[in-house]
Amino acid sequence: MSAKKVLLSGVKPTGRPHVGNYFGAMKQFVELQDSYESRIFVANLHALTTCQDKVELERNTQDVVLDYLGIGLDPMKTTIYYQSDVPHVTELAWIFECITTMPYLMRAHAFKDAEAKNKEINIGVFNYPLLMAADILVQDADVVPVGRDQQQHIEITRDIALKFNRMYGETFKIPEPLILENVATVLGTDGQKMSKSYNNTIPLFASDDEIESAVMGIVTDSGQDIPKNVYEIHKLLKPERELQKLYAEKKGQYAELKKELIKDLKNFIGPMRARRVEWESKPEEVEKIMSEGGKKMRKVVHEKMIEVRAKVGLIHNE
Ligand code: TYM
Repeated sequence: MSAKKVLLSGVKPTGRPHVGNYFGAMKQFVELQDSYESRIFVANLHALTTCQDKVELERNTQDVVLDYLGIGLDPMKTTIYYQSDVPHVTELAWIFECITTMPYLMRAHAFKDAEAKNKEINIGVFNYPLLMAADILVQDADVVPVGRDQQQHIEITRDIALKFNRMYGETFKIPEPLILENVATVLGTDGQKMSKSYNNTIPLFASDDEIESAVMGIVTDSGQDIPKNVYEIHKLLKPERELQKLYAEKKGQYAELKKELIKDLKNFIGPMRARRVEWESKPEEVEKIMSEGGKKMRKVVHEKMIEVRAKVGLIHNE
């Protein structure tokens, strides 16, 4: 057994990941893969809450795997797997559902937002945090790198672990979120939080043309010395000291500053895009990585679930 602490996180396959996903969370997956026993999955069960198109879900799921490999996750260091290859999490989520009250879960921001938009909300959306708690707790994860929008989900996870431990005896580790303060909420081209649902993203593997049109579309208010929305994205790529000099030199020249941002984005995205294309040409190797990842994780959680079932009194035959 490795002495390293366990790191766990995932991305939902609901469309192309963007620069916000990368700087808020995915970059940490890569940077921390040497220091932790890392497990990164594709949250395809969570995606079912909003995507009920088989072909789209399959394609997005495979795309996230290529995205992971493209950003530099090394399968020799990080176990990459499909959430649906570890179906134990749905069993554990059910157990959590039975010890969690509705009023407690109704306080979740994601649920409240979804409910405000759509009254005919599905139960998966409501139960979402419990499946997430199961993902994390079944693996005895120590740390969970995420962006700010997932913080409440980690708090719910911690509450559930504490409650279960109180009811049935010490069983689950209490995980810590890893949220990087300066990139906790990356802003999009309109100055709101970058999000697929706001149409304000810069895709992480954007083509050069897409980079250009996304940057040209950044909303700027006339009369500002520094176009704030351009600067906010630019500071992800360059140290602020350098940027302040550049933005002072080109004060008020929005088009010039956008050109600089385009150049830096191309330099940043280009090599990752090339690595992704390389992996795309090796589908058998990718399939093998995923099948081995799933097998390894099933083994880990199998042991944990034997313990959990026994604790709650679920008689179970192998
Ligand atoms: P998802 O797919 O919505 O987002 C993936 C990661 O990207 C972060 N993120 C951001 N960070 C900074 N600025 C932004 N604008 C921004 N937008 C997104 C998210 O915080 C997230 O870390 N529920 C999760 C998937 C999940 C999971 C888990 C994560 C399921 N089970 C267990 C960790 C552990 C989600 O939908 O992420």
